[in-house]
Amino acid sequence: MNIVLMGLPGAGKGTQADRITSELRIPHISTGDIFRQAVKEGTPLGLEAKKYMDDGQLVPDRVTIGIVRERLGKDDCAEGFLLDGFPRTVPQAEALDETLKELGRSLDHVLYIEVAEAELLKRLTGRRICSSCGATYHVVFDPPKQDGVCDRCDGSLYQRDDDREETVAKRLEVNLGKTRELVDYYQSGGNLRRIDGAQPIDKVTESILKVLRGAIR
Ligand code: AP5
Ligand code: MG
Ligand code: ZN
Repeated sequence: MNIVLMGLPGAGKGTQADRITSELRIPHISTGDIFRQAVKEGTPLGLEAKKYMDDGQLVPDRVTIGIVRERLGKDDCAEGFLLDGFPRTVPQAEALDETLKELGRSLDHVLYIEVAEAELLKRLTGRRICSSCGATYHVVFDPPKQDGVCDRCDGSLYQRDDDREETVAKRLEVNLGKTRELVDYYQSGGNLRRIDGAQPIDKVTESILKVLRGAIR
């Protein structure tokens, strides 16, 4: 199953992608996670990406497209994949179509998680991430059992650099127009499905799995 998960910053892409990919046993490919890992390792890619991420801007298409192209060619994608946060621009979507065509494949599902902007601000500023396993929490909506400590691995929780209030506003502004264009792109292609992302986390997962299993409500 080849899936694209779209949504504005904070819509719940990462949260849902974790659940869906462990259910379906396909790789979870998040361009944001790939960039953050590169930043952590101090690689040339990381140094380049950081300039844009810290500012709430998109990493240039040529960089992002190259990374996804390479990742999709890996063996573990043979049975399917879930892309989280890619494509984010129309040129990225076109490049993805081309890459899949070269691989003799196509997208099965494009899911768009919709959430109102005011809610996104609250989600992003309250998000916390585990420094060792990467699990995502929210101080109000999905708190860990013990403050600042990961339920899964006891790791300590931190706030992403780009989740500070100034950067969050910028990220939303940058992504709004691009997302609208992308929605149009996939809507005219016919395989876009909208998911109500304002529901509680478990309900959103249920809605997505229902679509993926073809049980259309
Ligand atoms: P990326 O890491 O992808 O950031 P993003 O798109 O801004 O999305 P987020 O990860 O912030 O949100 P999410 O939708 O995953 O939400 P989450 O599940 O965590 O990208 C980072 C940067 O990398 C970009 O700004 C850009 O610079 C660069 N980049 C990445 N991809 C790129 C591309 N294709 N092209 C160019 N540049 C690219 O949830 C958020 C919070 O809400 C959490 O605390 C969670 O617990 C909570 N929550 C989730 N669901 C619910 C719910 N249903 N109810 C209540 N709370 C919820
Ligand atoms: Mg994410
Ligand atoms: Zn953890």
